[in-house]
Amino acid sequence: MFKEIVFTPNEFAALAKIDKSLVPAIEGQGFIKTHRKRIGNVDRKVISLEEVQDFFKMIREFDTAEHAAKKASEMGTGAEMAGTAAIVNEAIAEATTHFAPRLSQKTQMFYNVKGGTGKSTLTAQFVMMASMLGYRILAVDLDGQGHLTVNLDILDAHERPTIYDVLINDLPIDQAVMNVAPGLDLIPANLSLCNIEIPLNNKTRREYRLSEALAKIADQYDLIIADTNPAASILNGSMLVASDRVNVVCATNPLSFHGMSLVMATIEEMQREFKRALDVKIIPNMYDNREVISQEVLGELRSQFSEFCATSVVNRSADLNEATKRRTTVWDVSSKGIASQDIVSLTHELLI
Ligand SMILES: Nc1ncnc2c1ncn2[C@@H]1O[C@H](COP(=O)(O)OP(=O)(O)OP(=O)(O)O)[C@@H](O)[C@H]1O
Ligand SMILES: [Mg+2]
Repeated sequence: MFKEIVFTPNEFAALAKIDKSLVPAIEGQGFIKTHRKRIGNVDRKVISLEEVQDFFKMIREFDTAEHAAKKASEMGTGAEMAGTAAIVNEAIAEATTHFAPRLSQKTQMFYNVKGGTGKSTLTAQFVMMASMLGYRILAVDLDGQGHLTVNLDILDAHERPTIYDVLINDLPIDQAVMNVAPGLDLIPANLSLCNIEIPLNNKTRREYRLSEALAKIADQYDLIIADTNPAASILNGSMLVASDRVNVVCATNPLSFHGMSLVMATIEEMQREFKRALDVKIIPNMYDNREVISQEVLGELRSQFSEFCATSVVNRSADLNEATKRRTTVWDVSSKGIASQDIVSLTHELLI
């Protein structure tokens, strides 16, 4: 389960893009804390999710010069300690370049009218990875199938309020929000959401209700990320109104590619209708470099939609299925695997 994830010092170093030999010095300077945890038969040094999140929050506010001056004055002329502080400062300054606060697309949705392209999987993996990096996140499940909800380990969603209650029954939105892990909140979904279209259609300002509701709690979060249902529904239209960016997840197969012109046309039409300028990113998913057809579709995506296509590609990997099964991040399944690398690179791209 994601909320119980812990990191070995090496995993932490890889995530922070810091040389692993510096971890003890970083700990010595008080920037992270390790504790001992029994894993199997061995006692291991680990770092908790909250400690990792705090580290990334800290480096986003880190000012190397100010920190160095403070350390120097604390230590007087203790040359050895000052030397370590300088090395740590340098490493953290380097890490800061990877994790600078550049969030410009605060509200994002994962979308495709075609089903089964990997929207829910990538939404869940993105919110967990961004949460590991210390961002405060609200995940919103807008699909009655509730796959994002399940991916985030909530199995009793049928008993919980959803966005249906907010949009149709005027439930205050904060009462539909639940916490699923440190720094990660969720508005869950259940089957009742499948019946929202007709009552929503009858509401005044129907497409604006969702963005107005989200606006009430937006300042509590760095990111608001929605998974949507595979349709051109009013609910999805409402999320387009609320979003800064649409992430279109496209499987690298011919049918998924065929549907792309329709998806892009739908998005364009909505932008016109609601007078919104949306950032659009196409994310190629389930790529298999051994398949000629996969290579061809990726090539076509990149040439036909060059201004929208993400640099990151998510390869087909059993780790993603395993992560779904274990209701955690792929990082937890195999931090060195190709799927983890893909999700890390996608997360960095979507955070800009
Ligand atoms: N890169 C990948 N490699 C392997 N399997 C993947 C990958 N991405 C998604 N899957 C698997 O594909 C299946 C469909 O994924 P998912 O449910 O995320 O799609 P979706 O677009 O949300 O579907 P729907 O339209 O029904 O909401 C799942 O079993 C998921 O584990
Ligand atoms: Mg889905």
